[in-house]
Formats: sequence, structure tokens, C-alpha cells
Amino acid sequence: MLNCQIANLEFPNPLILASGILGVAPSSMLRLARAGIGGITTKSVGPRIRYGYNNPSIIEIEDGTFLNSVGLANPGIDQMLLEISEFKKHSNIPLIVSVFGDGPEGFAEMAKLAEKAGCDAIEINISCPHAEVASIALSPDLTHEFTLAVKKAVSIPVFAKLTPNIANIIPIAQAAEKAGADAIVAINTLRGLALDYKTGRPLLSHGIGGVSGKAIKSIGVRVIYEIYPHVNIPLIGVGGIYNWQDVLEYVYAGASAVQIGSAFYQGDHILQEINQGLTQFLESENVSNIMDLRGKAHQYTEQLEGKPKECL
Ligand SMILES: Cc1cc2nc3c(=O)[nH]c(=O)nc-3n(C[C@H](O)[C@H](O)[C@H](O)COP(=O)(O)O)c2cc1C
Repeated sequence: MLNCQIANLEFPNPLILASGILGVAPSSMLRLARAGIGGITTKSVGPRIRYGYNNPSIIEIEDGTFLNSVGLANPGIDQMLLEISEFKKHSNIPLIVSVFGDGPEGFAEMAKLAEKAGCDAIEINISCPHAEVASIALSPDLTHEFTLAVKKAVSIPVFAKLTPNIANIIPIAQAAEKAGADAIVAINTLRGLALDYKTGRPLLSHGIGGVSGKAIKSIGVRVIYEIYPHVNIPLIGVGGIYNWQDVLEYVYAGASAVQIGSAFYQGDHILQEINQGLTQFLESENVSNIMDLRGKAHQYTEQLEGKPKECL
């Protein structure tokens, strides 16, 4: 009922861990697998250890909404390869490794190594708003170049993770598809800034960061809704998902699966609540698989008001 497929990968349910949230140590990834997650995306990994920015690097700015500037802190690919094989020994849910590197060849090299260690798919992080990779997914040409380099390097599916920090995301999504991406993941965080009200000093050590959590859900849903009619590859929706109704919104907009990040600060129990809520809803609506609801929002497009009424 909740199972779904992306490229050649079968997910027991459409809930995937978003990159950067708990996904480095096999123990926490396995804990989520036991708690009912459908797939795991690791923290973005690069060629070498990276410590990221100093604390404070993540703060809660509103209830359930966060600002982070972790700066792609990660243990480096050598350590990650050990984590990948360890995880795969104990779980068969799809493991997606998020990578970045030095230029297109650097991305390709990380992907090749991760594939060799046994992961099931690669996600390319071309969209983190507080690191060097931020500008890649702002350009259709760069998106194409980086996606193609990784596609050529591996035989497992490649997902391109896009940024909402752009006026028109459609050419970017199309560039990723043209380069052979097997799915699009959207959205990464939105650029934001929080200041100390007394001193005016930025609250994060790095200053500008990325906003995640509740406040960005309608932006993520809008992005999926906008991309859906323009590409033929599956979309994975991310941003502000806290409950089963949020998942449905993304599916109606056109997502084949979703990723969940910030909501895990509440605890792993949300997975069971979301899976149960979705199952009960589908049963009550006599829907045999959640994918039958994909893209439903688009059936109303014709009925939406195209032009504002003029003032009389
Ligand atoms: C602390 C933190 C670290 C993150 N690190 C990464 C990362 O390494 N790579 C990446 O592609 N996205 C990263 N993200 C973005 C998330 O994967 C996700 O796109 C974003 O948080 C929106 O989802 P959410 O509202 O469910 O958190 C990070 C987000 C947070 C809050």
C-alpha cells in the first residue's frame, strides 16, 4: 500500500531520511531502519574530513523551523565507505549516499567509491546554500555537467538535489533530466539569516544559513508542483514534513517519495505515526497504493484562476 519505486529501487514506504540528519553512523541509520524508514540518505560526503563551521551552527528560529550552517561537516569518504558497508550488512532498505567533491570529476570519484562500497543510489548535493556547491544548481549548464559526470561514473541510479534559491527551477530540473538523472530531489534549505535583537550580531557563527522545517513546507510543495509537468523522471519531495498529511501534499504535487529531516528532532516515533496515518487514510479512501494519488493536484490546474480580477 505504501511501497513505491524510484528507478530500479523498491522502497517499502515513501519516507526517506534527508541528507545531513542523523545519517553518518550506521547505528543511527539502523535505528531509523528499525523504526520504519523506507530509505536512508547519508550526510553529504566529500573527499576529506571536514569540520564545518563553529557552533552555533544550528538554531531553532520558530517552533519546528531551523536555521543551520553546518558547512558540510563530514567524516570524509574513507570513513563513509566503512559506514556504508556496515549498514548494508544489517539492512536491505535502499541506502542513498549524498556526495560532493572538487569539480565534476571530484563528484564522480566520490560516487564511484560509494557505489563500490555497496550503496544503492547516489544523490548529488549541488545545492547546499552555505558551501561551495551552492552555485551549481543555479545554472542549467553546471547542473548538466555535474550530473553527467556522475552518471558516466556509476551504474546505480543518480538523484540530483536542487535548490529553491532560484527564480525558475524548471530549466534546472530539465538539465538534470537531460544529463540522465534518475530522480530529482527538491528542496534543499532556503538562505536565511537570524540576528540577535540586542546586538544585531548574526546568531550563527557563519552568519547566513539554510532554513529548514515547518516554515518551508509550502515552498517545497510548490517546487514539486512546478517541476512535475515538465520532467518525466520521479520527484522526491523534501521540506517541512512533520506528519502524514504533509506527505500527501507532496504526493498530490507530484512526488513519488519524500525525505524527512528536521522533524526527526522530535524523535523516531514520527515514522510509525506517519506510516499508520497514511495507511489508515488510504484504507478509508479505498486507494490501493499511495502512488495512485501522485500528481492529483494537477487535475485542478484548469480550474485555478488565471488572472486577478480588475478593480472596478
Ligand atoms: C542540520 C542540517 C544539515 C543538513 N545537511 C545536508 C547535507 O549534508 N546535504 C544535503 O543535501 N542537505 C542537507 N540538509 C538539508 C536537508 O537534507 C533537507 O533538504 C532540508 O533540511 C529540508 O528538509 P526538512 O525541512 O525536512 O529538514 C541539511 C539540513 C539540516 C537541518
